[in-house]
Amino acid sequence: AIRPLIAGNWKMNGLKGSIAEFDAMLNGAAEVAAKADLLVCPPATLLAAFATKAAGKKLSVGAQDCHPKSSGAHTGDIAAEMLADAGATAIIVGHSERRADHGEGDALVMQKAESAWRAGVTAIVCIGETQGQRDAGKTLDILRGQLDGSLPDASTAANLVVAYEPVWAIGTGLTPTAKDVEQIHGFIREFLTSRFKADGARMRILYGGSVKPSNAAELMAVKNVNGALVGGASLKAADFLAIAKGC
Ligand code: 13P
Repeated sequence: AIRPLIAGNWKMNGLKGSIAEFDAMLNGAAEVAAKADLLVCPPATLLAAFATKAAGKKLSVGAQDCHPKSSGAHTGDIAAEMLADAGATAIIVGHSERRADHGEGDALVMQKAESAWRAGVTAIVCIGETQGQRDAGKTLDILRGQLDGSLPDASTAANLVVAYEPVWAIGTGLTPTAKDVEQIHGFIREFLTSRFKADGARMRILYGGSVKPSNAAELMAVKNVNGALVGGASLKAADFLAIAKGC
C-alpha cells in the first residue's frame, strides 16, 4: 500500500505569530504518524523558522513555488536550492493559483519540478481543470495535457507527487463526488503506470480542493487517493490533524 501524505498549503497566509499554531501541529504529529506523512508548506518567510522547530518531529516542511534556476539576477524569486537550504523537503509546483496569477504553463512547471530535484527535494506537481473545462466535458483531456507537459521523464515514486486539484473546488466548499474522484484518480494512475511503469504504480496521487475534517475520511478512502493537499483547513492545527487522522 502507498503511505498517505497529508500536505498543508498555507498559500499567502501566516506571520511570525502563526508559529504557535505550527507548534500545535508539531505536538499532535506523533499521534498521526502511524497513518500518514505530514507536510506543511508555509510562506517562504516562515520556512526556516518552521523547519528549525520541526527538526526531529514527525512533520516536514515544504515550499509553495520556486524559480527554475539555481541563482542569478531574478529579483524577488527564490531558487529551489534556497528553499532546501532553509529546510524544505518538498516544493509544490504548478499550483493553479500560480498557473492563473503568474501565467505559468506546463513547460515552466516541468522545469520547476526538475529544479526541485536538482536541490534534492520532492516535487509536488499540481494539475486540475477549471469549471468551464469541466462543463465542456474536457476534464480528462486537460489533465492528460497537464500530465504530459508538466511531469519530467525522470519522475519516480520517490521524487514526484501528483496533486489533483479541480480549480472549481479550491476554496469554494465544493468537492467532486467520491465516484468522480475515483474515476479521475484512476485515469491519472493509468497515465502514470503507462508512462512510468512500476514507479507510476507507486506514485502518490493527492486530492486537493475544499478538504475538511468533515469530508476527509470519505475522500481519503477512495481508490488511488494517496493523501490530500489541504489549503484553508491546514491553517488550523486541530483541522489539519483531524484530516490526517481520517486517512
Ligand atoms: P482549499 O483546501 O482551501 O480549497 O485549497 C486547496 C488548495 O489549493 C491546496 O493547494
